Amino acid sequence: MNLLQIEIITNRLVLKVIDMQYKTEIFREFTAEITTYMYPRAANEISDTEAFIQNSLAGLREGCNLQLVILKKNTKEFLGCTGIHRMNTKMPEFGIWLKKSAQGNHYGFETIAALKKWGEENLDCEGFVYPVDRDNYPSRRIPERLGGKIVKEYNKENLSLNILHLVEYWIPKQDI
Ligand SMILES: CC(C)(COP(=O)(O)OP(=O)(O)OC[C@H]1O[C@@H](n2cnc3c(N)ncnc32)[C@H](O)[C@@H]1OP(=O)(O)O)[C@@H](O)C(=O)NCCC(=O)NCCS
Repeated sequence: MNLLQIEIITNRLVLKVIDMQYKTEIFREFTAEITTYMYPRAANEISDTEAFIQNSLAGLREGCNLQLVILKKNTKEFLGCTGIHRMNTKMPEFGIWLKKSAQGNHYGFETIAALKKWGEENLDCEGFVYPVDRDNYPSRRIPERLGGKIVKEYNKENLSLNILHLVEYWIPKQDI
């Protein structure tokens, strides 16, 4: 499987491998507000975003990290980023963010539901991990709607030096 060619199509979205062509939008939209409940922090310089994209492509080539952009299917508008970390393990982890103006349309659920299906068809895993801050209600709805159950709760300092109060959902793989 050539991960660099992946394209996942849903009703309203297309998920494509991250690319330097999206650096300006990622830099502009991945703000301090967006990262409130996330581990990474917003980039100060566009060179930070470029380094993130380079690292993501290296992870893709190694087969350990799938990093995708979320585009609106009909217009190809950039909406955000998503990914599967540790994808070569039994317990890969989902990640997602949407730009502010794209939130409120359930694109998050549509994205992660499609990634789950892709993972079930293509990965040798037992299920998926979805860690999320206990106060991040829109994000918590995603694993809840996919049948996820809380299996762990722990605190972790993020790169903005705030403490995240994480609840970790386990979403079992469905047999296909
Ligand atoms: C997580 C994220 C992708 C979800 O975005 P989205 O798909 O646009 O989500 P929506 O706004 O459509 O809402 C999803 C659900 O949360 C509910 N919701 C939204 N805001 C809420 C609030 N303040 N309180 C309670 N529920 C809320 C919605 O009613 C909806 O519920 P439903 O599934 O039962 O219909 C988006 O909020 C985001 O990018 N956040 C910033 C980055 C981030 O925190 N990423 C996740 C890290 S774990």
